[in-house]
Amino acid sequence: MAVQTVLGIDIGGSGIKGALVDVTTGDLAGPREVIPTPSQPTSLNMARALATLTQKVASGFTGSVGIAFPGVVKGDAVMTAANLAPDLVGVTARELLSEVPLDPTAPAPVLVNDADAAGMAEVRFGAAKSYHGLVLVVTLGTGIGTALIHHGVLVPNSELGHLKVARPGPAQTEEPEWIEAEHLAAGRVRREESLNWDVWGSRLNTVLAEYEALLAPVVFILGGAVSQNLDLYEAELSIHTPVVAAAMGNDAGIVGAALMASEAPS
Ligand code: BGC
Repeated sequence: MAVQTVLGIDIGGSGIKGALVDVTTGDLAGPREVIPTPSQPTSLNMARALATLTQKVASGFTGSVGIAFPGVVKGDAVMTAANLAPDLVGVTARELLSEVPLDPTAPAPVLVNDADAAGMAEVRFGAAKSYHGLVLVVTLGTGIGTALIHHGVLVPNSELGHLKVARPGPAQTEEPEWIEAEHLAAGRVRREESLNWDVWGSRLNTVLAEYEALLAPVVFILGGAVSQNLDLYEAELSIHTPVVAAAMGNDAGIVGAALMASEAPS
């Protein structure tokens, strides 16, 4: 089968990563670079940042491009940007690439949710490859992202990081405090509140228990930097569904964005 190379870009709250990807294997097909997300992430500043990144990793490349974005993506446009900048709502893939000289005859660039991209990479090439049925990929970074994938088919924008869960209180009799899952147990919350792994792990258990009750997935795949420390909080996870660390590491968003671009209907 011919190698198909696609440029994958993963926009995050603090950095923007990119690399050319061989979408037949999920391997990177060139250097991978990260540049800081602009402190004022207006669409023009983002377009300039993407041009800088593209110049570093894919100078002269004119093929397909996939962009992963940390918010709801509908059709070609960003619908929410909870952890980035409200100004970016409405921005399209073409606008994000407006400073990059692309071949006008190349397929239209594709914009996808970041967790959906990471999830598709894990299902196709990573930790979820051998699971059949409903897989829930949960990315634990600045926010909580989720990818709901059934037999390899993605239901996009599941956004379960915004589901309200009952914060475990000291006394069972007290009215529960309802809090968005990502405000309770994102990777950022652990750092910002300096939580021990066991305290944070038990918060994560509260979130996963809610997802388990609602969706009954066959497996949870955890992504984000904290997934590499699963052994430090695994004991706090009392849910019944297996929990597995992501295998694609920091490349999942790049690879998934490229993959989804290569498979998007034209
Ligand atoms: C956003 C999601 C995103 C997740 C991880 C959430 O706040 O609403 O779209 O996938 O953060 O970046």
